[in-house]
Amino acid sequence: MPTILSGIKPTGQLTLGNYIGALSRFKEYQDEGEVYIFIADLHALTLPIESKVLKENSIDIACFYLASGLDPEKSAIFLQSHVSEHAELNAIMQNYLYMGELRRMTQFKEKSLSMKDEAIGLGLFAYPVLMASDILLYQSDEVPVGEDQRQHVELTRDLVTRFNHRYGEILRMPKAVTPKTGARIMSLSDPSKKMSKSDPEGDIFLKDPMNIVRKKIMSAVTDCGSEVTLDPIGKPGIANLLNIYAALSHISQEEAAKVFGGYRYGDFKKAVAEKVVEVLEPFQNEYLRIKESKEYIGVLKSGEEKARRKARKTLTKVQKAVGLLTF
Ligand code: AMP
Ligand code: TRP
Repeated sequence: MPTILSGIKPTGQLTLGNYIGALSRFKEYQDEGEVYIFIADLHALTLPIESKVLKENSIDIACFYLASGLDPEKSAIFLQSHVSEHAELNAIMQNYLYMGELRRMTQFKEKSLSMKDEAIGLGLFAYPVLMASDILLYQSDEVPVGEDQRQHVELTRDLVTRFNHRYGEILRMPKAVTPKTGARIMSLSDPSKKMSKSDPEGDIFLKDPMNIVRKKIMSAVTDCGSEVTLDPIGKPGIANLLNIYAALSHISQEEAAKVFGGYRYGDFKKAVAEKVVEVLEPFQNEYLRIKESKEYIGVLKSGEEKARRKARKTLTKVQKAVGLLTF
């Protein structure tokens, strides 16, 4: 049975991109393997964030996890910062990844581009070390992530090769798994950019009221022409809407294009909006119920215990391997 691990960092309002690329997939893994899903709150500190916002976002993600159908009996759902083994493994692993490698990471380059060196936290630079530690602690086989996180998983694989070469078969080799449809949902206002929580333009937030969701989709930028065809280069806006529709309907983009062959843009957008509402509305109601009931607190506590059991084992193994005393 494979071990499957993923996390989301509580840095902002979750978007439809997070739902399609990450959240909605997690429950499918529960019957396939041992599942660890966490809130990457330590990672959220790598860019400035208000403490109140971090707290609220962390609770939101816990509730979204549960609303998405993750079952705390089957999966360990927990906060990264509550399992201190993450930080402990990080302290070891930072010695086996190199400055040159970290400097090449696209995410680091993008996020630090507009920042002065004096203002770039060490944590932002070392982000992939902590992420590798998250993955390795649970001896994960599969790491479901969006396209943008693949590079970090590749780096984790390099780390495993390097570490095991030196110390023997200590760490399991993970692999990134990315959904075929919906791996990269683009901004509704600029289909050349990813829909992301750090970019409020063109986003659909999971907490948006349904009338706003409809409005945002109806005003999504579309391309020249007036008929729906699948042409990611010539018609990126339409392709993105087809991608959203396809992912939420569990069909391929090509199949979605067939459904809407001959549709004009206006009617097509209406249909996409209704599909998004059909999925988001019940999801949002469930999120609100869970938040109100506070049941996420017990879930996170028991998740923490379950996670720690596995994490401790790996950490001890690594400590022994590198020569730290473990008695
Ligand atoms: P982030 O918002 O960067 O913390 O991402 C959390 C998870 O959602 C990761 O697995 C991302 O790759 C995924 N994700 C974020 N934005 C998108 C998007 N626009 N399309 C698809 N997946 C996404
Ligand atoms: N870096 C991931 C993101 O931004 C979140 C994350 C942190 C993660 N640790 C992880 C994802 C380990 C998968 C596995 O989306």
